Amino acid sequence: MTGIVVAVDGPAAAGKGTLARRLAAALNLPYLDTGLLYRAVGRRVLDAGADPRDAALAEAAARALTPADLDRTDLRGPMADMAASAVAAIPAVRAALLDFQRSFGRARGAVLDGRDIGTVVFPEARVKLYVTASVEERARRRFLELQGRGVAADLSQVEAEIRGRDAQDASRPVAPLKPAADAILLDTTNLDAEAAFAAALHLVRGRLG
Ligand code: CDP
Ligand code: CDP
Repeated sequence: MTGIVVAVDGPAAAGKGTLARRLAAALNLPYLDTGLLYRAVGRRVLDAGADPRDAALAEAAARALTPADLDRTDLRGPMADMAASAVAAIPAVRAALLDFQRSFGRARGAVLDGRDIGTVVFPEARVKLYVTASVEERARRRFLELQGRGVAADLSQVEAEIRGRDAQDASRPVAPLKPAADAILLDTTNLDAEAAFAAALHLVRGRLG
């Protein structure tokens, strides 16, 4: 499968990462979670005690990113989620992260998950999946994840946070969250991770011919 790019986009907690990681293993392709890049930039700005909407600081943070930033263990949680979404709305931040994502995918093909992989990063991707699920189901999944990590959370608060972040991601002028015109839509509301993977692999193999 060398050289093939598979784009996996969709809203928060749809199961993109879980699915993309499994697809990459099945297709023997490298995997990149592009959300981590925005999360790491947001984290750097928060660490500086600044507002993640500060365009100059966020751009500098994006340009200074190192691989070690992506290994940090504090990239998830409500603060980190919103900081990622805030820096992701800044055009200069997106521009600074573009080359890395494209080089990663071009080296030997890849499965990448995010919001704009099929629309902006790899508009020429061989296969594009847009993975979604109802907001209630996505909130339930994120809530269970938080519980599993021992983080106290409130389901209705998790749902409100997801709604807010999706609205912010979908309404930004640059690279908004939306399916590419040629993306295959996969609604996993009633599918567990295993069934979603089986359905996705079938769709991907169909596209690859
Ligand atoms: O990357 P994204 O935020 O879209 O989702 P994720 O980090 O892959 O997390 C989704 C969570 O929902 C994980 O705990 C999965 O086990 C679970 N899940 C899933 O990924 N896919 C389903 N169809 C059902 C549940
Ligand atoms: O796992 P979850 O879906 O909750 O979030 P993520 O994929 O880690 O992305 C975190 C944030 O980064 C999103 O809310 C987007 O604002 C931003 N992002 C983006 O703008 N473009 C991407 N390709 C990936 C993430």
